[in-house]
Amino acid sequence: MNKHLDLKTVVLMGRTFEEYYKMFDLDNGLLKNEILLDAASGVSSFCAEANSKGFNVTASDKIYFLSPDEIETKCVQDLDSVMEQMPAIADIYLWDFFKDIQSLKANREKAYRSFLEDFKKYGIKRYKPVEYPITDFRDKQFTISLVSHLLFLYEDKLDYDFHKKTILELLRISSREIRIFPVVNFKGIRSRYIELLMRDEDFRNLKISIKRVGYEFMKNANEMMVIRK
Ligand SMILES: C[S@@+](CC[C@H](N)C(=O)[O-])C[C@H]1O[C@@H](n2cnc3c(N)ncnc32)[C@H](O)[C@@H]1O
Repeated sequence: MNKHLDLKTVVLMGRTFEEYYKMFDLDNGLLKNEILLDAASGVSSFCAEANSKGFNVTASDKIYFLSPDEIETKCVQDLDSVMEQMPAIADIYLWDFFKDIQSLKANREKAYRSFLEDFKKYGIKRYKPVEYPITDFRDKQFTISLVSHLLFLYEDKLDYDFHKKTILELLRISSREIRIFPVVNFKGIRSRYIELLMRDEDFRNLKISIKRVGYEFMKNANEMMVIRK
């Protein structure tokens, strides 16, 4: 896939509960019983929506060091710059979850608005300012950690060392498992770090698997990695 989204940095873009539900193959039974961490959650509304449904989710991202106004300014700029590129690269996406570019934009706006409302209301209680790979969460503070659209996808901007240290930190603070979506880069090609990770001595005692899920927006981005202790 030669056409792809061309980004200078990691963008501030947020997905909804419905997308997380599909990306991470979640179900209400699991959500009810777990203490979840959304790592690099940005302006996603997953934490807001999940907590409003009675589930236990904490969000964590380096943008939570900023004020709501600063976050809003940046995420509006990032959304505009991604949307500008969309018409030229629309054919690398599957248009069934979103029917067109307008509905994609409306969904992303809905996500960041719900996030901002919740962020203003709950602040540090739900939204932890964290710069991975280092956190001050306690050992096993969460049962499952989710990482959406940061690791693997941005392999050209984040090196293997960052991936490894972030995953090791998430393993320290999660008692059961980590789920990462997607496992491809922006060209829709499986990240080269996956093989490195599978062969890495420091991960040899873990069960690492790749699972097909019921979400595919960027073509080929339809699998999550599950790392179990
Ligand atoms: C593309 S957004 C994904 C947001 C959300 N997970 C989703 O899928 O809707 C990537 C996020 O990673 C965050 N991020 C990038 N590097 C980070 C780091 N070292 N520590 C914490 N957050 C980071 C950015 O601030 C941004 O919010």
